[in-house]
Amino acid sequence: MCISGLGYITIEASDLEQWRTFGCDVLGFMTTSTADSNTLSLKMDAYPYRLRIVKGSLDRFLLPGWEVYDKCQFHDLVSHLRDIGCSPKIGSTDEAQLRNVREYAHVVDPTGSAFEIYYGMQLDYAPLVSPVGVKEFVTGHNGDMGLGHIAISTPDLAKSLSFYTDDLQFGKTDYMHFQFSDDANDPGQGLHFLHCDNPRHHSIALFEDSKQPSGSLIHLMFEVPDIDQLGYMIDRVNQHGIKVVTPIGKHTNDEMVSVYVESPAGFAIEYGFGGVQVDWDHYRPTESAKPSLWGHNW
Ligand SMILES: [Fe+2]
Repeated sequence: MCISGLGYITIEASDLEQWRTFGCDVLGFMTTSTADSNTLSLKMDAYPYRLRIVKGSLDRFLLPGWEVYDKCQFHDLVSHLRDIGCSPKIGSTDEAQLRNVREYAHVVDPTGSAFEIYYGMQLDYAPLVSPVGVKEFVTGHNGDMGLGHIAISTPDLAKSLSFYTDDLQFGKTDYMHFQFSDDANDPGQGLHFLHCDNPRHHSIALFEDSKQPSGSLIHLMFEVPDIDQLGYMIDRVNQHGIKVVTPIGKHTNDEMVSVYVESPAGFAIEYGFGGVQVDWDHYRPTESAKPSLWGHNW
């Protein structure tokens, strides 16, 4: 596996202050300095930032940044992506410095979903000083489990699965197929949960949905270490009048107890605790038909 984790998320926002309030006062991140006054950087662990929020005219998810181990694997992957027609574009030195990485490349996958790959993120090791007292987020040792996970849409589940597993070398964790409605004629939808080279149950879920552009963010998950940190967050959500998209529940496959709330960009933030961590040498991929053990009234 060449992808070690989900390194960062880039978001476009028309109002950086709205994201500062949501990110810091609700989610519990801290702001961190950036050379670009049009970018808000939010930090949650030893990484200098995990969310890059760039000022723009729209409020939307832009792309994820996937971490590659080193320069050699990065260039091998760039050349493989070039061979299969993804036209990776290596970013300028200035843009790499703004990301605090050695090098990065912008890639568009075969279904039209954009992402970046990078290596050499310079950690600042500065402790999280959360303005609302979040003790820590579950991101592994010095962030080696990545910031959390994303669920994105794809119009062609088979094509996306092939790309992520064959070309980016993600591993299969679980395939879920279920119906959101009670309609007997509802064909249901499929989700592939995939992991990269860290113990997090999944770093990406590919969601079958042809009604929205490929790569649309369904949700972005952050994990805290215990139920109290989740409970305090639910209190903050209520205090700030944030919309709860999906109330508390426990997932079947990753055992995460979580809530989903609406971000300023419209996509959901899943905030949870208790996600399983997996030893991939002793794991068999599963199939499932039920997203939650209890709660999460979809
Ligand atoms: Fe999730």
